[in-house]
Amino acid sequence: KSRVGILISGRGSNMEALVAAAAAADFPAEIAIVLSNRAAAPGLETARRAGIPARAIPARDFGVDRAAHEAAIDAALREAGCELVCLAGYMRLLTPFLVGSWAGRMLNIHPSLLPAFPGLDTHARALAAGVRLHGCTVHLVTEVMDEGPILAQAAVPVLPGDTEASLAARVLVQEHRIYPQALRNLICGEQVPADPRASLLNPCV
Ligand code: GAR
Repeated sequence: KSRVGILISGRGSNMEALVAAAAAADFPAEIAIVLSNRAAAPGLETARRAGIPARAIPARDFGVDRAAHEAAIDAALREAGCELVCLAGYMRLLTPFLVGSWAGRMLNIHPSLLPAFPGLDTHARALAAGVRLHGCTVHLVTEVMDEGPILAQAAVPVLPGDTEASLAARVLVQEHRIYPQALRNLICGEQVPADPRASLLNPCV
């Protein structure tokens, strides 16, 4: 099994979905560690309850030194033997250092159909734009926020009367479905992303 590290900042429901998927004997990944940039992230406790090592590496411990914070995260991932990293609601921008350190091996889930609505408040912006379809995207992380080769997407309808909360909930169900699927496909080489660096992963037997 490929060892996967997960970075979170809050609730961690996507992390939970990955942990649940990885519990299956035939899933090609195991979750090696969960890290959060916020000590108060509820997801840390959720991970521990599932028996996954989880710890906070708070950005504020490093003051304005973003490089030192990312170096600590990078070191923790490597100490845990991670081969891949999944960002799951990790709400800090990454510098080229961490992105470069995991090039082709770092995934992110974003709550919109990229390239529509990169950034924050995606559900409110989708409602304001009047789109009829919204959804979520799993992609490889590159230096540009919410860009990078797309690995999986799922669309949901925007329904009359939708609020930000109702739309977010509809999208979240799909996030939990496609994130484990995209991770599996990437590891198993069933999906050949536009980025050839991803091909360093081994096909599953
Ligand atoms: C998810 O909807 C995820 O797509 C989004 O934050 C939420 C985290 O929820 N990520 C981003 O907006 C990244 N820019 P979770 O902690 O329950 O997985």
